[in-house]
Amino acid sequence: MHKKNILVVGGAGYIGSHMVKLLLEREYRVTTFDNLSTGYRDAVLGGEFILGDLADKTQLDALFRANRFDAVMHFASFIQVGESVREPAKYYANNVTNTLNLLDSMQAHGVTKFIFSSSAAVYGEPIRTPIDEQHPKQPLNPYGRTKWIIEQVLQDYDRAYGLRSICLRYFNAAGADPDGKLGERHAPETHLIPLVLQAASGRRKNIQVFGRDYDTPDGTCIRDYVHVTDLCVAHLLALDRLLKGETSAAYNLGNGNGFSVQQVIDAAHRVTGRDIPVEYAPRREGDPARLVADSTAARRALGWNPQLAELDTLIRHAWQWECKTTKYHA
Ligand code: UFG
Repeated sequence: MHKKNILVVGGAGYIGSHMVKLLLEREYRVTTFDNLSTGYRDAVLGGEFILGDLADKTQLDALFRANRFDAVMHFASFIQVGESVREPAKYYANNVTNTLNLLDSMQAHGVTKFIFSSSAAVYGEPIRTPIDEQHPKQPLNPYGRTKWIIEQVLQDYDRAYGLRSICLRYFNAAGADPDGKLGERHAPETHLIPLVLQAASGRRKNIQVFGRDYDTPDGTCIRDYVHVTDLCVAHLLALDRLLKGETSAAYNLGNGNGFSVQQVIDAAHRVTGRDIPVEYAPRREGDPARLVADSTAARRALGWNPQLAELDTLIRHAWQWECKTTKYHA
């Protein structure tokens, strides 16, 4: 049987590398295209690797001329909200212009299936919770705006060019490969769970809690943490849906359970058995008090059923990775 041939753009990054691993396990042919600006070559566990940049239209054209891809998954974007406020041009250039280059090359070469990594950041400050897909889109920062712009572009490209896409709006992606081969390696790291675990391993002296005066039961912010492997499974289901010729759509990906920063720290203490020094700090600008997904649509339409939804499981996998990387750093 013809193996489906998938292009994974940004496959050397955190979520992309987990996706490549899963695609290979499910017998897809995989090509990773990544400029290694934030990714790691050794995180790409198989398939073909091409060092390349979406800004280079000639290279993109050559890539599509040399390969017959059945679908494209696009993980290559900058993700730091604060940086996007300070350096919006960097975000619009990479997350918007470069994505348009990719879409234009796809169109020129007749590739019509696209899976896009979107974000809960498209919604902005929630006016109701849990957040469903119909919630108003009022992104609060350039990062969120870049994601919403591309979602709208995709609606237009669907109508005009027949480009079928699924936008997956991640809530808080976290955790690591259960086999221990991959994990989160952002530099600098800004996400809560890896930072908490670095405080547990002694790689950093403490975890700063940004604000404890929010309108939540313990005063710290609530987020919907979703295991990176569950996210990747949702991508596989979305891919299946597109390959069967179904219509474009956008889905939230979260567990529907909110955990506060304090609850994450308590869970990390439970899982690791280590003390986690905490420093209480002022609020971080732009943080909504509570972001929790209503993922009913993904469950219904894709048949998505997260298997690693327990917070302790997610933290255990992230801790396995932290222990492994700390050993490397020792
Ligand atoms: N936090 C701390 N201390 C830290 C880091 C984070 O208290 O050192 C808190 C934050 O204030 C927030 C929570 O932990 O309340 C989670 O923060 P993360 O930075 O891990 O994640 P965010 O919710 O800010 O960001 C995620 C994605 C972004 C996306 C955003 C909005 O990582 O890409 O959700 O959808 F833009």
